[in-house]
Amino acid sequence: MDLQLNGRRALVTGSSSGIGAAVARMLAEEGARVVVHGRDRARAEKVAADIGAAGVAIGDLRTDDACAAVHAEAVSALGGNIEILVNNAGGSSTGNTTKTPIEIASEDWISNFNANALAAIRLSRLAVPDMIAAKFGRVINVSSAVAVQPNNLGADYSGAKAALNNFTVSLAGSLKGVGVTVNTVSPGIIMVDGLLRFGRQKYGIPDASIEEVTNRLAADKVFDLPPAGRLGIPDDLAVVICTLASPRSGFVTGANYRVDGGQIRSVN
Ligand SMILES: NC(=O)c1ccc[n+]([C@@H]2O[C@H](COP(=O)([O-])OP(=O)(O)OC[C@H]3O[C@@H](n4cnc5c(N)ncnc54)[C@H](OP(=O)(O)O)[C@@H]3O)[C@@H](O)[C@H]2O)c1
Repeated sequence: MDLQLNGRRALVTGSSSGIGAAVARMLAEEGARVVVHGRDRARAEKVAADIGAAGVAIGDLRTDDACAAVHAEAVSALGGNIEILVNNAGGSSTGNTTKTPIEIASEDWISNFNANALAAIRLSRLAVPDMIAAKFGRVINVSSAVAVQPNNLGADYSGAKAALNNFTVSLAGSLKGVGVTVNTVSPGIIMVDGLLRFGRQKYGIPDASIEEVTNRLAADKVFDLPPAGRLGIPDDLAVVICTLASPRSGFVTGANYRVDGGQIRSVN
């Protein structure tokens, strides 16, 4: 199937590593012009060179000013407005894994809301008006399985992702008949470099394969394997995001796509 992405202009935030890097690479393989984003210029430029991207845009997305600068840098590198905005940058900015909700300080909640909800809201505010004017746009927000099934710990992160899911539905509903769709994609546990490094260090096997690390972590009950019988890999997300980015996906909006191997048990 031709996804009709050839020549389309895309910004993928947080594409200097992990899921975002896989999304940027797959969009580029489909012929899109892609801007790679991250906080670290060297890492972003390395990914951009590897995939033949149109350029990079650099900045921490936790402030209005930085988002405006990233938006401007992306538009300039693309030579036109952003048609596909993948709001992927994020992750727990505080790394709270031991605190209960009432032990988490206000500044941690604020930091995670800035990184995981407001970053996407700010960039949407900047990019969507041009999409409306052009009668075409795709906004894809990368959330998390914990947005709908939070753990007792790390609520500053899961709460921010829940706000992002909510924003998706409101924005999609407000864009009636203008050719702009807005969707959420919710990963389960995805084996990105950080998790692979963690597992290799934990077991003292520097060259352990993804499968070996996964099996050991599952055997130690660090997590339960989902029905798919394995953890996700970044390409699992990239396939779904490229499909949603396609002009052929114009009837899908306001949806939340779980890419979690069946981890979340829900009928919708
Ligand atoms: N991996 C999983 O299991 C999993 C599960 C559920 C949801 N997710 C979500 O998937 C998305 C991608 O995560 P990943 O696992 O691929 O993580 P990753 O490999 O650590 O990549 C995170 C990316 O986001 C960027 N980033 C993080 N905070 C930022 C900030 N405040 N401002 C600007 N850029 C920022 C990083 O930029 P730098 O270059 O500066 O580091 C990096 O490019 C995140 O939104 C995460 O919450 C991941």
